[in-house]
Amino acid sequence: MKLNKIVIAIDGYSACGKSTTAKEVAKILGYRYIDSGAMYRAVTLYFLDHHVALTNPKEVDRALQQINISFKVNTKKVTETFLNGLSVEQEIRQMRVSEQVSPVSTIKAVREAMVAQQRKLGKDKGIVMDGRDIGTVVFPQAELKLFMTADMLVRAFRRQREWLEQDRLIDLDDVIENIKKRDLIDTTRAESPLRQADDAVVIDTTHITIDEQVDQVIRMAISRMLGSSKG
Ligand code: DC
Repeated sequence: MKLNKIVIAIDGYSACGKSTTAKEVAKILGYRYIDSGAMYRAVTLYFLDHHVALTNPKEVDRALQQINISFKVNTKKVTETFLNGLSVEQEIRQMRVSEQVSPVSTIKAVREAMVAQQRKLGKDKGIVMDGRDIGTVVFPQAELKLFMTADMLVRAFRRQREWLEQDRLIDLDDVIENIKKRDLIDTTRAESPLRQADDAVVIDTTHITIDEQVDQVIRMAISRMLGSSKG
């Protein structure tokens, strides 16, 4: 039985397990995984390092023309984000980037540049992309759309654990504050705010394990792959 390639769009709040689920699902299906948040983070890193004034559209446009973002799978089979040819995978996860990425991602010109690149990456399907506007704006025709949520405390513990894995202890209150700030900006911005697509399936990850999340998504993906091969 032939399974057609589909686009899987995963949206949701920060630290709900989107990227962990997306990566694993892509691995199982042999699909490409694209972390769209990493693209906004790479832009933010460039803006910070080059002192780009976010309120100056000319400066922003000029900077965007200098930015080239790409992804490569490293020897450990982990996808790394490259900014102008250099791996920035570690740097884009730093708190200085996390604190600025939501404001940067509200800028229309930034979003237009990223969305254009994301659509190119998905043109041949066989892709899992996670973010905030993937099912609503980037791929409104995606065959499978998921919207992930979880309780705030669970999300904060998960983010704190990710920092710990990099030998950094961040106070839980600071993690919660950063997540809340980002939720607010992400859901209330004028340009493609985070919202659930009408046809998205909601997955609340508060009480389920990563394996359970992945199993649910794979089951849905297979049914869509069969469905889309009939049409
Ligand atoms: O997924 P993440 O936490 O790494 O995303 C970082 C920020 O990028 C997030 O606060 C909002 C923004 N973002 C966005 O606006 N649109 C996307 N498709 C992905 C991320």
